[in-house]
Amino acid sequence: MRVLSGIQPTGRPHWGNYFGAIRQYIDLQHGNEAYYFVADLHALTTVRDAARLRQNTFDAALDLLALGLDPEKAVLFRQSDVPEVSELCWLLMTGTPMGLLERCHAYKDKKEKGLTADAGLFTYPVLMSADILAYDADIVPVGADQVQHIEVCRDLAGSFNHQFGETFVLPKAKTLDASAKVPGTDGEKMSKSYDNTIELFEDPKAARKKIMRITTDARPMEEPKEPDGDHLYQLYSLFVGDAEREAMAALYRRGGFGYGEIKKALADAAESFFADARTRRAALVADPARVEQILADGAVRARKKAAATLARAQKNCGLR
Ligand code: TYM
Repeated sequence: MRVLSGIQPTGRPHWGNYFGAIRQYIDLQHGNEAYYFVADLHALTTVRDAARLRQNTFDAALDLLALGLDPEKAVLFRQSDVPEVSELCWLLMTGTPMGLLERCHAYKDKKEKGLTADAGLFTYPVLMSADILAYDADIVPVGADQVQHIEVCRDLAGSFNHQFGETFVLPKAKTLDASAKVPGTDGEKMSKSYDNTIELFEDPKAARKKIMRITTDARPMEEPKEPDGDHLYQLYSLFVGDAEREAMAALYRRGGFGYGEIKKALADAAESFFADARTRRAALVADPARVEQILADGAVRARKKAAATLARAQKNCGLR
């Protein structure tokens, strides 16, 4: 199987990115041909500061490596290092119905909030489709919020194939049941744009403060509580094994505990969960040339694959 996914360097990665997507990247690099990239072209729709975009892009690559992405197994690269994708994006754009993009939630949400959307945001799912199709990806590991975009990609690929003959592989989204939509500190989807995130590598003290501020209800301590659907329990469950999760569920159902104890247990579990990655990250920070070299090697490998797909698409639609 060929696997592909990307993450936007719009800020530091948070628990939602890790449990929804990055953890899948790491698992799927074994036994598959895997391509993972930092989506700096997509980030340009929101990050309008050159130095910050460049730094965030480098940091996102470094974070992925620290979390266990192995450049011997997977190809890691910057999206903008593969210009073939932007050209492929145009080929797809010529056959993209406006209505399909108007239904996409990222654009719709912004419009509903009364914000002005630019063409970059509007056509964002087409660039994402080009990303996926350029590498003949079969599987795209993502969180639930990206599933609609993969459906758009399938539509565009299907209609191109129908019009010009078999050109693109139709991909499938892969989400994880337990963590396709990780809640944030307010119980809504964890998202940089909702300001409810807890970052993977933030200072442990700052992370602990945020955890202590996770919203909870005002029921009395002694009252038994249902763990399912409780976002604090859901977050705790991400970090522990079955035995600890069941013990926590039993505690909820028994009652007689304070949410403060649970938050402390969550902070401890999260700190030890990311401790090794934090150590690996420090080593990578001390050796930026290594990270640059990995990205440069990744770009060469990714371009080779994307150039072959672009040539196939160009030929089929009459450009060569
Ligand atoms: P981005 O950068 O917003 O998010 C990266 C990945 O993290 C997942 N995610 C979550 N999963 C579960 N719970 C959450 N609260 C949560 N928040 C984020 C996202 O679903 C995503 O998988 N458009 C993409 C980047 C992209 C891409 C692609 C992805 C560009 N081209 C091609 C796949 C294939 C994005 O904005 O992800």
